[in-house]
Amino acid sequence: MNKDRIEEAQAEALEACKAAETPEALEGVRITYLGRKGLLPAMMKGLKGLAPGERAAAGRAANAFKEAVTQALAERRRTLQAPAPVAGGPGADTSLPGRWHRLGSMHPVSRVIEEAVRIFGEVGFTVAEGPDIESAYHNFEALNTPPHHPSLDPQDTFWLDSGELLRTQTSPVQIRVMESRQPPVRVITPGRCYRRDTTDATHSANFHQIEGLHVDENGGSLSDLKGVLAHFAHEMMGPEVGVRFRPHFFPFTEPSVECDFSCHVCGGGGCRVCKFSGWIEIAGAGVVDPRVYAKVGYDAERLSGYAFGMGVERIAMVKYGIEDIRMLYDNDVRFLEQFA
Ligand code: PHE
Repeated sequence: MNKDRIEEAQAEALEACKAAETPEALEGVRITYLGRKGLLPAMMKGLKGLAPGERAAAGRAANAFKEAVTQALAERRRTLQAPAPVAGGPGADTSLPGRWHRLGSMHPVSRVIEEAVRIFGEVGFTVAEGPDIESAYHNFEALNTPPHHPSLDPQDTFWLDSGELLRTQTSPVQIRVMESRQPPVRVITPGRCYRRDTTDATHSANFHQIEGLHVDENGGSLSDLKGVLAHFAHEMMGPEVGVRFRPHFFPFTEPSVECDFSCHVCGGGGCRVCKFSGWIEIAGAGVVDPRVYAKVGYDAERLSGYAFGMGVERIAMVKYGIEDIRMLYDNDVRFLEQFA
């Protein structure tokens, strides 16, 4: 093979490398051109038969052939072994339909809690937490709830064999916070609560509350409490929401109130969510009873404050127009996707 023929063969070999679509095909190309019985050894042998004038040029061409084909094989091998092109990357087919990824969404209960933490955070409340498994002392006794109180009844409270219980309210976290720090205290404590309620459209054995506690020297009065809850209502539901307070009783606050929001779903006209009353009971609240201060070693003479406990599911139901509390726990993605 003279120089020209070798160069022709080189061009042909390089084409074959490019055309090989699989590693196996490429190996075939290597064998054909560089293999022991392939073209290159034959080429080298053939040099001897050439006229001395042609031999040197053909020898150089053969070396160039070997080098170029070796390099082309290596390059092509790398391409064939490379991972498939990524979306949008070089080689991606931008005309293909996109892949559909389902977007996760935040659960409405989590959304309400997150929003409440923001709203109260803006007026100086920080977040505190306590355990779901509580002592009877923290859940009842320290909250001035006597042992014969009906809420201790096994029909209402999940008691554990250990003598502890699943907290029926977030109020025990008030006690834990006051036991562990000195006033001023201004905390909210979102968390899960448990009661032996029969599940229906408005009751669940497992629900969430957000507790609030503000204690200071000349700290919180009933009017401060009303101001804070009204501010919260307007931030959470919008400026048009109505807020009302009704006298009530809790063992750990005196005076005590219940706080209702006007129904956001019907605007107060009456609908299924508010059971046609126009109002939804959202929170229990009141001025902290001095007996609670005594339990945690606070000086009741010097201090005053208020506390509240709101139902998170209640807020979510009026805010988003959810008629049945069970929808919040069915984990039906068609429901949850609406909160994306
Ligand atoms: N813990 C009470 C309940 O679950 C609500 C409450 C909290 C009332 C704080 C007064 C003060 O009903």
